[in-house]
Formats: sequence, structure tokens, C-alpha cells
Amino acid sequence: MNLAVFISGTGTNLKALIDVQKEKFFDSRIKLVVSNKNAKGLDFAKDNNINYIVSKDDDEILGELKKHDIDLIVLAGYLPKISKKLINSYEIINIHPSLLPKYGGKGYYGIHVHEAVFENKETISGVTIHHVNENLDDGDIIIQKEVDISTCKSAQEIADKILKIEHQSLKEVIKKMEEDN
Ligand code: GAR
Repeated sequence: MNLAVFISGTGTNLKALIDVQKEKFFDSRIKLVVSNKNAKGLDFAKDNNINYIVSKDDDEILGELKKHDIDLIVLAGYLPKISKKLINSYEIINIHPSLLPKYGGKGYYGIHVHEAVFENKETISGVTIHHVNENLDDGDIIIQKEVDISTCKSAQEIADKILKIEHQSLKEVIKKMEEDN
């Protein structure tokens, strides 16, 4: 599959996918990275000669996706809401750092998810990878992995622990999707 990875932040999930692509863990290839801003994670695309665009314009993004013959869009820490146009044109998956539907929806992204989880003294959190529909964090769930956070002393500690599982889960889901295709 030809992948487009959408990012808005540090891009460690993108980096993890680039690493496993180098190891040939799966056959899929990251053909395009899209960001809505000059995100730090774009450096991983630049360093690895992967095409990237910074754009908030749907038509421009759609044009690039078409140009690179994209089969699957992977939202990896991408914050803008995905338009109907994109949803209707592509298969899109999203990675979210909680056990959805818990800690999902408006305002729940990145460290804010873990802050809420920490404040509520949860002992288990986790990772969800799901299909993207028109509602935030709402599409069909592909995989969920629970993570024991009972010993974590801060939201950041939870984030670090969960991020490692995110990297593992994302590559597994993409491999499974290409096998099923
Ligand atoms: C990840 O934890 C991802 O699950 C989360 O943002 C972080 C991005 O990290 N996504 C969301 O919260 C989406 N609602 P990264 O830029 O280092 O991959």
C-alpha cells in the first residue's frame, strides 16, 4: 500500500513507521507526509527523502494524495478535523492514546488525554487505532491495547509508556491491513 502519514507534532509515530519500513517489516511505503503546520516531525520526512507538504487546503492535499497514488491515510497525531471530502475519497485510520470511547472527542488530544487520565487516577489506559468517520474519535475500532499505568507518577510518564505501545500497534495494524487487502 502507498501510505500518506498526517502529522501535527513531534512525529514519533511517523519516525517509527519510517524505521519499520527500512527493516521491511511491511511492504507498504510512505509516499507522502502531510502537515497542517511546520511541525517538528517533518524533519523525519526531510531526513529520509520522503515527499511532504504543509497545507490546510483540502484541494491541494487531495491533489497530492492523488499524485502519489495513496491507498491509505494514517493520522498520526494530526489535529485538524478531517473533511467529508477526504473521508469519502480515502480509507483513513487514526491512532489515539486512550481506550476509546474513554478520553476521546473534543479537547482530548496528545498530553491532554494523559492529564485527564492521570487526574482521574486510572490504573489502565491504552491505545486505540480506528477507522475515521465524520465524528471525532468515533469510527470503527481496529485494535485496542491496554497499558498498565498504575505505577506512573505523572501524565508525561503515562504518555511515554503509551507512546511505545502506539509505535508497536501502528506497524502491526498496517501489516494486517496490507495482508487483508
Ligand atoms: C500520539 O500520542 C497520538 O496518539 C496522539 O498525538 C500523539 C502524537 O505523537 N494523537 C491524538 O491525540 C489524536 N487525537 P507523535 O507526533 O510523536 O506521533
